[in-house]
Amino acid sequence: MDTFLPDAESTGKLMSLADLDHEALNKGCVVPGTCVVGLQWGDEAKGKLVDLLTLQHDIVVRYQGGANAGHTVVIGDQTYKLSLIPSGIFSPGVQCVVTGGVVLHPPSILAEIDALAARGVEVGQNLMLSDRAHVIFPWHIAEDRALSDNTADGEALGTTQRGIGPCYRDKVGRSHAVRLGDLYRDSFRGRVDLIVAAKNKMLAGLSDSHEPLVAEQVYQQYRECAERLRPHVRDTTAFLLDAAEQGKRMLFEGAQGSLLDVDHGTFPFVTSSNSSGVGVPSGSGVPGKYITRTIGVIKAYSTRVGGGPFPTELNDSTGQQLRDRGNEYGTVTRRPRRCGWFDAVAARYTARLSGVDELAVMLLDVLSTQKELKICTAYDIDGSRVQDFPSHVDDLRRAKPLFETVPGWDEEIGHLRQLAALPASARAYLDRISGLIGRPVSFVSVGPERQQTIFSRPN
Ligand code: GDP
Ligand code: IMO
Ligand code: MG
Repeated sequence: MDTFLPDAESTGKLMSLADLDHEALNKGCVVPGTCVVGLQWGDEAKGKLVDLLTLQHDIVVRYQGGANAGHTVVIGDQTYKLSLIPSGIFSPGVQCVVTGGVVLHPPSILAEIDALAARGVEVGQNLMLSDRAHVIFPWHIAEDRALSDNTADGEALGTTQRGIGPCYRDKVGRSHAVRLGDLYRDSFRGRVDLIVAAKNKMLAGLSDSHEPLVAEQVYQQYRECAERLRPHVRDTTAFLLDAAEQGKRMLFEGAQGSLLDVDHGTFPFVTSSNSSGVGVPSGSGVPGKYITRTIGVIKAYSTRVGGGPFPTELNDSTGQQLRDRGNEYGTVTRRPRRCGWFDAVAARYTARLSGVDELAVMLLDVLSTQKELKICTAYDIDGSRVQDFPSHVDDLRRAKPLFETVPGWDEEIGHLRQLAALPASARAYLDRISGLIGRPVSFVSVGPERQQTIFSRPN
């Protein structure tokens, strides 16, 4: 077993990615295309892993979702929260690309660019935005808010209210859709008039307090944003296809998690894009054959924000302990995250779905001090033992987790850098999760900082 990061003490807090042991990080891998994808309900610490892997790549790509994502990167004593900009942005020389599969709110991405620039992070030609990306307008956000209490089978979806669902709905519906490239065409002015007239009627029907939107104001605001964004906008599909054919190393950064995938997740309690590994080709335009390594990111336990069934949820003091130790409050909305034990039935399903080769187990340190840990290895549904993840939400609602109980460990582990140094019960826990999912563990994270990572790929 190996560590791939130099000791924190020898490097100081502001460790540079260049200090990583890249050979160990990449051992045995031919890397034209790596995909980092969450296997749970999001917030698995994908941002941390993408940041660590960035220097192994030439290009970092966000391919779906929007500003519903909140990816955290901690560099020394600085914490960055990214919503739309790829987590590779901190590495000079790396090209960051936001593709047409993403839904983009121009004021939000400009605010993100400005906030990074104010902290000395360069965002210039290293950020490329697809002219095919669909644009989120105020009517999408208003609709998302008006529908936020809307229930699917009696339970609120609990969206992030960033206009994600309504924008994807318009994309598929086509007639009211606007893509980033449209903002630069003369036809944009007329389209805004038509769409605003239709949306005002629709929104008035949804909410008595709807303030009618004024087409001219929307047009002016979005034209100003478009001018500021102009240097970043281009055909990213052509760029990525050229890059793939030239053997450039691409890192695809998933947003949300596989269980929130609109087609394969816990529908209807999902987001509106393909947030599992299946979304990479459609969202980016890069054929799947260029993805040679898929890393499935999991927390050592489970969390979920928003509504929907969650079989291993802990509505007790243990759940609260996980929330407190893991600081489990939403990156985007600050909502307390629902916490529970690790669900191996769900993770095995999503690892298969997303074509995962290896696992990154994050936030293992949060489990320290638990006397015992539980792992869900099957569900009981109406008296039957089920190991396949149910396709219908009603069945998942009735699923009672069947737990295996394993010993926990007392000691804090955030300072450990070698797998062999972890308590025996922590290693046994990792082995059990890996065995249940049927994939090796390549990374173990024991804290939010870059150096709090153990590289555990077997030789
Ligand atoms: P993402 O959306 O998947 O990128 O994850 P988020 O950034 O929303 O949430 C992960 C949170 O866990 C962030 O606050 C990270 O700084 C933090 N984090 C990442 N890795 C670790 C870890 O190993 N231990 C602990 N305690 N926190 C971590
Ligand atoms: P990252 O990339 C966790 C959840 C919302 C809600 C559902 C639908 O940080 O892991 P939406 O606004 O997308 O229509 O909300 O999806 N959700 C996330 N949960 N992490 C995320 O992103 C999420 N993005 C959306 O809480 O339940
Ligand atoms: Mg997040």
